[in-house]
Amino acid sequence: MKIGRNDPCWCGCGRKYKQCHEAFDRKIESFAREGHIVPSHDIIKSPEQIAGIRESAKINMACLDAVAENIRPGMSTQEIDDIVVDVTRKMGGIAAPLNYDGFPKSVCTSVNDQVCHGIPSKNVILQEGDIVNVDCSTILDGYYSDSSRMFLIGEVSPEKKKLVQVAKECVDLGLKEVKPWGFMGDIGAVILEHAAANGYTVVREIGGHGCGLEFHEDPWIGYHTKRGEEMLLVPGMTFTIEPMINAGTQSIYTDQENGWEVYTLDGEPSAQWEYQVLVTETGVEILTY
Ligand code: MF3
Ligand code: CO
Repeated sequence: MKIGRNDPCWCGCGRKYKQCHEAFDRKIESFAREGHIVPSHDIIKSPEQIAGIRESAKINMACLDAVAENIRPGMSTQEIDDIVVDVTRKMGGIAAPLNYDGFPKSVCTSVNDQVCHGIPSKNVILQEGDIVNVDCSTILDGYYSDSSRMFLIGEVSPEKKKLVQVAKECVDLGLKEVKPWGFMGDIGAVILEHAAANGYTVVREIGGHGCGLEFHEDPWIGYHTKRGEEMLLVPGMTFTIEPMINAGTQSIYTDQENGWEVYTLDGEPSAQWEYQVLVTETGVEILTY
């Protein structure tokens, strides 16, 4: 399907193609000709869509702020779910995880050697010394936001504290690589390097994703990547950076009883932070953290 230069632009701005995204598309095509993976139009967000994602993101971050204020030893992970349900509802949103592919709760709570997709339960009581990832995903007016944070429960060992800290540094380093006409592989490369420099591993099978119009959109974002490779970054793309950093082996397994909860194979702890970002004309905007 070829757009004429005088046809309306595909982005929906109402202007002619030649006055809007034509030069942009030519630039993308030149990267494609050089053999790069390039984004399709359907994952490039319009200003209106970006505004919608920003509103969704406000609820998403408010949920995690409320969790941060209330999380403490002796609390069940179900109570974290209750907080997320409550804040999301009061702000007019919908929790994306509930019933997503059959997920039974409204947020993921992953403790210690749980890598991700931990299912909140009244039987899981947070103990002094635990590290917990709370992964919150929100829908507002059809727009998706997604982020996660680590929480330290009471006094935590120096080893676990360092893991949580380095996992955060990994995301912050990845963030610095996000710029228009850069590459997704640049993000993974710095993350893998920083994790390895600290003696940690990065989970291979699960990664980040495009996010905004759907919960999980293209591209899938792994962290075992090289600079200058993987998908080209262009303004208007929105995606998550969410590497799972393991203290021990990178190997993981999924609990076959519930089909969701992912653990490290060696029982060593894992940590993850997740930001959702927008590629802008000049660099990056953090949408959620
Ligand atoms: N929030 C997770 C992510 O960051 C996805 C969880 S899927 C769910 O991509 F069903 F468990 F919610
Ligand atoms: Co995500």
